[in-house]
Amino acid sequence: MAVNLLDVQSFASGHPVDLYQDLRTKPKLHWNPEPGGPGFWAVTRYEDVYAVDHDFQTYSSEPTIMIEDPLEGSASATGDAKMMLMMDPPHHTAFRKLIRAEFTRPAAGEKETRLQQLARQIVNEVIERGECDFVAEVAGEMPSYVIAELMGIPLDDGRKLYQLTETIHSAPESLPPGAATEAVMKMFQYAMGVIEEKRARPADDLATRLLHAEVEGRRLTDQEFLLFFLLLIDAGGDTTRNLLSAGILALKQNPEQLTWLMQDLPGRLPTAREELLRYVTPVIYMRRTATRHVVLRETEIRKGDKVVMYFGAANRDPDRFENPDQLDLSRPANEHVAFGGGPHVCLGQHLARIEIDAILVEVLTRMPDLEILGPPEWLASTFISGPKSMKVRFTPGRRL
Ligand code: HEM
Repeated sequence: MAVNLLDVQSFASGHPVDLYQDLRTKPKLHWNPEPGGPGFWAVTRYEDVYAVDHDFQTYSSEPTIMIEDPLEGSASATGDAKMMLMMDPPHHTAFRKLIRAEFTRPAAGEKETRLQQLARQIVNEVIERGECDFVAEVAGEMPSYVIAELMGIPLDDGRKLYQLTETIHSAPESLPPGAATEAVMKMFQYAMGVIEEKRARPADDLATRLLHAEVEGRRLTDQEFLLFFLLLIDAGGDTTRNLLSAGILALKQNPEQLTWLMQDLPGRLPTAREELLRYVTPVIYMRRTATRHVVLRETEIRKGDKVVMYFGAANRDPDRFENPDQLDLSRPANEHVAFGGGPHVCLGQHLARIEIDAILVEVLTRMPDLEILGPPEWLASTFISGPKSMKVRFTPGRRL
């Protein structure tokens, strides 16, 4: 059967590990055709993904990191306004600097106690029922709370925005026509309201700081603010949610690993969480565009070619990880690329780790007999991997 990395079926129940293995062992990069587009090179070995991600001069994030090119005439196609994820240094560096301080390890660390309280509250909401949809009611709640807190907006709005990100990340063929564009428009409309609100009533939140921040000697335009807003909501939403849901699934499928973890949860969680990140790898790919003729893995890449890094394939590369398809929560020196690498390495990684730990501790200690009811329904996407819905059952407990 022809390999097609654009077919949602390839990702219908997780990363296609056998397909990745096949592609990694080929001497050359795989060329994937693209209906209505020129096609792209798929990079699947750890060493190559690492090299591409770190060499922004050869592999540019412009005009986009999605496989599909931006629509002709759109702001990202004309370069009028861009999301920093789709910029190269030095512009990217200047934009990233604007919000970097909010996401350092110490800044994230300051939120730890608050996030632990949130995790407790999230579990409180379902614990008496003895059953729930783990994705929507537990895993998805955390990033919704975090987005709302960061941006200084009501929690219910955080929830709605996060639901929109799921639509944006779904494969277009799995949605009614126009649904993704509509979701982006709704997000923008909401962000316009935030601009008005925060200009009228400045507060101690990231949205207010962004509105007053200067980049390259000037204030952000409204459009640039909108794109920052979209990026932050988009990047931290279903990534964290999927790690948590697919992480719990992986733990339940590997009971001996879970037993090992529970023997010393606080001590073993940091190593275990990194292994869950490697094993689950919520972001399937990021695209780059070659700025010059280059040879990679015996493949002639021409200027302008699309080059796509498959993080899940890199994270299962046997040349880098021993027994890569095995979940090994004690895996040492786990330098996975679940957060990418190079100039765009996930800005929210420290925050994400705290969110993940907070939920895992609550769930594993308060729902020790959690049982997954039937195979979870996977998100139809070639970009983000994880369950869309996962029904679970547990012995009811009391609120704390
Ligand atoms: C498990 C959770 C997460 C995963 C797996 C993840 C993964 C990633 C990946 C793969 C990239 C692209 C890196 C590259 O191109 O090399 C990225 C970028 C980014 N992430 Fe995350 N992410 C997560 C959570 C978060 C959170 C919680 C936030 C913030 C609230 C966040 C904010 C960002 C931002 C702003 C970027 C763009 C950075 C730039 O362009 O410089 N992420 N993330």
